[in-house]
Amino acid sequence: MTTLFDPLRIGDIDLATRIVMAPLTRNRASPGQVPNALMAQYYAQRADPATGAGLIVSEATQISPEAQGYLDTPGIYNTAQVAGWRGVTDAVHARGGRIVAQLWHVGRISHVSLQPCGQAPVSSTARPAKGKTFIAGGFADVSTPRALRTDEIPGIVAQYRHAALMAIEAGFDGVEVHGANGYLIEQFLRNSINDRTDIYGGSMENRCRFLLEVMQAVAGAIGGGRTGLRLSPVTPANDAGPDSDAQALYEHAVAQLAPLKLAFLHVVEGATGGPRDIAPFDYAALRAKFTGAWMVNNGYTRAMALQAVESGVADLVAFGKAFIANPDLGRRLREDAPLNALDTSTLYGGGAEGYTSYPALADADA
Ligand SMILES: Cc1cc2nc3c(=O)[nH]c(=O)nc-3n(C[C@H](O)[C@H](O)[C@H](O)COP(=O)(O)O)c2cc1C
Repeated sequence: MTTLFDPLRIGDIDLATRIVMAPLTRNRASPGQVPNALMAQYYAQRADPATGAGLIVSEATQISPEAQGYLDTPGIYNTAQVAGWRGVTDAVHARGGRIVAQLWHVGRISHVSLQPCGQAPVSSTARPAKGKTFIAGGFADVSTPRALRTDEIPGIVAQYRHAALMAIEAGFDGVEVHGANGYLIEQFLRNSINDRTDIYGGSMENRCRFLLEVMQAVAGAIGGGRTGLRLSPVTPANDAGPDSDAQALYEHAVAQLAPLKLAFLHVVEGATGGPRDIAPFDYAALRAKFTGAWMVNNGYTRAMALQAVESGVADLVAFGKAFIANPDLGRRLREDAPLNALDTSTLYGGGAEGYTSYPALADADA
């Protein structure tokens, strides 16, 4: 019987266990959106597969200046950022870990103060989302976006490709394209948001076109075996209204990706960080369209994760909040040890407190 603690090869990446650290935005990058030594220490604490994760998915990382939506999130589009990330990936690899970069474009979930020259954020639509983002002065309503012209879309696709190449140069083992949580790719996928009349809007096939072009560009640049994708078919995160036929839409999207032979698909089941049963969705039917490794997330307890892998329902399980509070979550899952409590006041921004300060069991042993 396969367990959560068994090794797995996903595409071209060998993992020591099936325990994944989910992507977690922590807003601690240095000026210029550059990763720093504190971030390297945080990831290194969670990188040893014997005590931490078999695979780390990095915090969401913007592919261009326009792709940013929150204060102090890291980028992966210039050489300073690549050098900063190299410090992270070296620290992770020194502990025997594996790490992929989550490639992010927020689309309309941004604010003019975070955009080059104070310009409007771009999206599939010119209709604003209801919601807030975090900027220099604190929380603020997201800004009204500008709908991308059809002739601008190849340029955004090229930014994903460039960021993927930069990620490999920075020493990442691969990338996860962020297609979830109401950000740009989901703003194209769902007919509750996408109101375009060009070849990127209207039919299901047209709404999947942007995702497909991004995945072709990324996998074409770095190889499908180093490329994964995160989707969240029914999440309402970031004012993402439900698609009128989410099951058909996401099955169509995943089926179209088959020729790319992606390493993994990472599915957020239900409302991200909320109820798993917010809307009916047949995840097994979605999995049937995919041949790579199947990674699940959202509200997984130890018992649920053990069961998911042992039953074959999932190949990998990603843990978010539990990895924030427990650098040695892998050991704790193995030993069924109690978990540290999460301090929600230190999630976004700040320094070492609530970031690298959570104790491991070994600290108590010592
Ligand atoms: C502080 C915080 C930051 C997050 N940042 C990201 C992110 O950058 N990218 C992403 O896809 N999901 C992000 N998420 C969602 C998590 O990856 C995950 O889906 C969610 O926490 C549910 O998993 P859990 O129940 O194991 O915590 C974030 C969640 C939290 C709590």
